[in-house]
Amino acid sequence: MELKDKHIVLGVSGGIAAYKAAELTRLLVKAGAAVQVVMTEGATHFVTPVTFQALSGRTVFTDQWDGRVANNMAHIDLSREADLILVAPASADFLAKVAHGLADDLLTTLVLARPRAGTDGAVQDCPLLVAPAMNRQMWENPATRRNAATLAADGVTLLGPGCGEQACGETGDGRMLEPEEIVEDLIAFLQPKALAGKKVLITAGPTFEAIDPVRGITNLSSGRMGFAVARAAREAGAEVTLVSGPVSLPTPRGVTRIDVAGALAMHAAVMARAAAQDVFVGVAAVADYRPKAAAEHKIKKVDGAPPAIELVENPDILAEVAALPKPPLCVGFAAESRNLAEYAQQKRERKKIPLIAGNLIQHGFGGEDNTLVLFDARGQTPLPPGPKSELARALIRHIAGLLERR
Ligand code: PMT
Repeated sequence: MELKDKHIVLGVSGGIAAYKAAELTRLLVKAGAAVQVVMTEGATHFVTPVTFQALSGRTVFTDQWDGRVANNMAHIDLSREADLILVAPASADFLAKVAHGLADDLLTTLVLARPRAGTDGAVQDCPLLVAPAMNRQMWENPATRRNAATLAADGVTLLGPGCGEQACGETGDGRMLEPEEIVEDLIAFLQPKALAGKKVLITAGPTFEAIDPVRGITNLSSGRMGFAVARAAREAGAEVTLVSGPVSLPTPRGVTRIDVAGALAMHAAVMARAAAQDVFVGVAAVADYRPKAAAEHKIKKVDGAPPAIELVENPDILAEVAALPKPPLCVGFAAESRNLAEYAQQKRERKKIPLIAGNLIQHGFGGEDNTLVLFDARGQTPLPPGPKSELARALIRHIAGLLERR
């Protein structure tokens, strides 16, 4: 429920991407938001208000002269109630009107009437986010580019547009972002920017140590915890690089991802970048050992003679980063099956890092939720159990506090 208690006005303007706004409404409601849909007349030609009413559980506003609001000031009431206004899809016409302060229907009027933070801070700001959607020639038109630049300069946040195949059959910039991407951007927008201007490097997932072309040594890490930390760091405003072992997860938006398989490749990817970082978080479950040499061909079964696999030690990536002359703030993870506090603190001291996040393996590996305890030189701080996304945000807040005191 990442949007719990958020009141969102979702504006839908006229364009074929209006059909995707129905799915967007569903996702916003699922994330806990109260969604009030306002449609332009054009939008109602693509999707009916009934669709949005069913998905949002609220009657939809389409008309400036709607008699349902007693004072006939829907434009004022709706924008005063909202924590933010999101317009998706935002047509070229809608962008042009808002850029020029035109207000000839309910949506443009309530956007113009939205509260803005005054210099005395007395007025509660109601941010405006728009997800443009139009044909690529319309998006590239100098007039639209000017309008988009004006809106950005006025403090409006543009989400996208994306690039790809368009409803008209052409391919290029101008596609509305997918509803999942818009929701992810919206959640990120609402997070405090505690790591603005910082560079954060993160490892995630398992490693895969090849035995032969089809077999290897790996573990049950899904990558979820590390990807959640990457997303939370990005939401907090950091420039994030994620070095990931083999997992099947989508890359968090705005994060640079480097895929690796074995610990040696993860080591190389991290060491090439570590010195330039402010923070390094090792979430990956890195194999301590790898086969000395991977067989070139598939190892054949020989009756009565199981093969012996000689192992050699992998480099300790986290300990090496911590030993750099000017190391980033280093944070480790420890997954234990027992004695969590004792083993996690031992790992923290052995690797000479200021902070380690401990989890029991039955909590940490695989699922969406986790239970984390933070260990530092002063002792331990248990975090409330919950989704990995929430724990990652709490960890990032803790890291931001350490960076400030560094
Ligand atoms: O991916 P999920 O399914 O969401 O699961 C998350 C997780 C359980 C894998 C994660 O929360 C976690 O606990 N990761 C650390 C696993 C572990 O116990 O690692 P370790 O004890 O082997 O290593 C301790 C620390 O040193 C870790 O930060 C690790 O990344 C780092 N390390 C370890 C060995 C090595 N050769 N190089 C390292 O950098």
